[in-house]
Amino acid sequence: MTGPDTRHTHLAALRQRIEACTECSLCHTRARVVPGAGNATARVFFIGEAPGRKEDESGLPFVGAAGRVLDELLAGVGLTRSEVFITSILKCRPPDNRDPLPEEVAACLPYLAAQVELIRPRLIATLGRHALAIFRTGVTIGEIHGQPFRDNDYTILPLYHPAAAIYNRRLRPVLADDFAKIPDFL
Ligand code: URA
Repeated sequence: MTGPDTRHTHLAALRQRIEACTECSLCHTRARVVPGAGNATARVFFIGEAPGRKEDESGLPFVGAAGRVLDELLAGVGLTRSEVFITSILKCRPPDNRDPLPEEVAACLPYLAAQVELIRPRLIATLGRHALAIFRTGVTIGEIHGQPFRDNDYTILPLYHPAAAIYNRRLRPVLADDFAKIPDFL
């Protein structure tokens, strides 16, 4: 079993590798790399889509409007950022916040896989359709949000992206209901 200190050290080394990455063309347009943040022994691991403008400026995940929604949803189930790990599929911002390109996802996925393997969370919560598509295709988020499923060693909980609740206020209570399932896994 890997101890918390070892995990922390490996995660810090991985972070340095991610920050130096030049595997895709987003390295030319990014201001900062956004590797992710949180606890090396987190039981729940959140995966978003890609950094936006505020994240690109700060190097931190979910610090814009969607991040505020995420913080409120976490607080609603008694969690803080220091207890969880939060990252996105892409670690660099796509210009104008366009959707991630398949080659960008392919270049970045090994970092996500390495983060998951180091942290070994009890639950992976995907935020939005892009993160869901890593684990399952052929279904929409509308069909399976809030319904956990297994993928190899992990339990995946598909959730709407917090940004969706900004554009569509009716999704906010849906997200809160789905978040309410998280403590069952901790
Ligand atoms: N949206 C994401 O998917 N990730 C971030 O880090 C910020 C907004």
